Amino acid sequence: MIRLTEIKKTYQTANGFLCAVDTVSVQIHVGEVFGFIGFSGAGKSTLLRCINLLERPDSGLVLVDGENFMTLPKKELLKRRRKIGMVFQHYNLLQNATAFENVSFPLEIAKVTKNERRHRVLQCLQIVGLSEKANDYPSKLSGGQKQRVAIARAIVTNPKILLCDEPTSALDPQTTQTILQYLKLINKELGITIVLVTHEMGVARTVCDRVSVMEKGKVIETLDMSNETLFPQSELAKYLFINGGGI
Ligand SMILES: Nc1ncnc2c1ncn2[C@@H]1O[C@H](COP(=O)(O)OP(=O)(O)OP(=O)(O)O)[C@@H](O)[C@H]1O
Ligand SMILES: [Mg+2]
Repeated sequence: MIRLTEIKKTYQTANGFLCAVDTVSVQIHVGEVFGFIGFSGAGKSTLLRCINLLERPDSGLVLVDGENFMTLPKKELLKRRRKIGMVFQHYNLLQNATAFENVSFPLEIAKVTKNERRHRVLQCLQIVGLSEKANDYPSKLSGGQKQRVAIARAIVTNPKILLCDEPTSALDPQTTQTILQYLKLINKELGITIVLVTHEMGVARTVCDRVSVMEKGKVIETLDMSNETLFPQSELAKYLFINGGGI
């Protein structure tokens, strides 16, 4: 379980202090797909990056499986971070490396043997349906294929948690559906807990078990998406989920 308690993150900007995440508390259960949705600048990415401490909160508690990440020594934190995969909007692939090499990279850092690496990389490329593209460079791949390589790379170290920041925002609706189906598969078949940031209501509807609506650094409401009929309380959630508003 991921437990965020009273997370606060402030940035110093030219115009003074900016509170990107303002006293947010959320609990994400093992095995669920949990979403954060909101307008641009709401603090979604900042909060997501607080989970693996890529952003260190000014205050608050980050507990993952009961362990307080905030007080872990750097070396231990790096170890834990390897068990948390990440997927980004713009894939962040190495351009001068093949799909195989991109997926293999985290294993090289973890000093996994060559044989084991090969086995595991091919396994992960197969999971995302890209066995045939193992030797292709990113420049030869479509956006959806690049994101599938990025997903394979994110799961290659057997993480328990996958953090996804707008994983489909650069993709067309059909490719978005394909990527969401792979994320669902990974969640169900591999039991990986997924935390996903999106500004698209459709994405939240398709994959998320629960969704927190964020506005101006705060979580204003959390919705259970398994209910056929949603009963949003806040104006923003009503706009998003009842009126079908897009952002
Ligand atoms: N490194 C930084 N330095 C200063 N301000 C920052 C930094 N990172 C984020 N911010 C500010 O914090 C606020 C929240 O940013 P964040 O990127 O978390 O929003 P977001 O909800 O992910 O938005 P988007 O949907 O556009 O990605 C914004 O006002 C942003 O300008
Ligand atoms: Mg963002």
